[in-house]
Amino acid sequence: MAITTSLRAGALALALLTPLGASAQETDPESGLIIAEGWKTVKVNCTICHSAKLVTQNHGTRERWTYLIRWMQDTQGLWQFPPEQEATILDYLAEHYGPKTDARRTPLTPDMLPPNPYKQAAESG
Ligand code: HEC
Repeated sequence: MAITTSLRAGALALALLTPLGASAQETDPESGLIIAEGWKTVKVNCTICHSAKLVTQNHGTRERWTYLIRWMQDTQGLWQFPPEQEATILDYLAEHYGPKTDARRTPLTPDMLPPNPYKQAAESG
């Protein structure tokens, strides 16, 4: 019991110590954008109205990014892109700022949690 607990604690500590994005990619010091195909197109078009941080802190599928671009075009004055340029932007965003998969640790198992005081109410309600 004590051993499994300390193993778990060790695994948790390791998980916390591992930097996010451990496969460190080179980023543009100015914008923070990951340097990869298409990044300059994104930098030129996506950092004029707001910080590049708004881009780099977001994650989503290609559909999500398309939706955001349409939203900015419809309501925030973002210009239309030639189809090829839009594809470059979406390829880049979907590839490098895709849906998060590893930012959260896996949930704790019930035996690692304190008793849930609301459980009974939830079950009966
Ligand atoms: C014409 C101005 C303009 C340009 C250019 C622009 N945006 Fe935006 N964008 C906005 C505005 C305005 C907001 C809302 C800012 C806020 O909520 O503070 C926004 C918000 C966002 C958000 C946050 C959305 C959310 O859910 O909170 C993301 C991500 C984003 N933009 C990405 C991009 C990308 C990628 C590009 C390049 C294709 C881009 N923006 C270019 C105006 C622009």
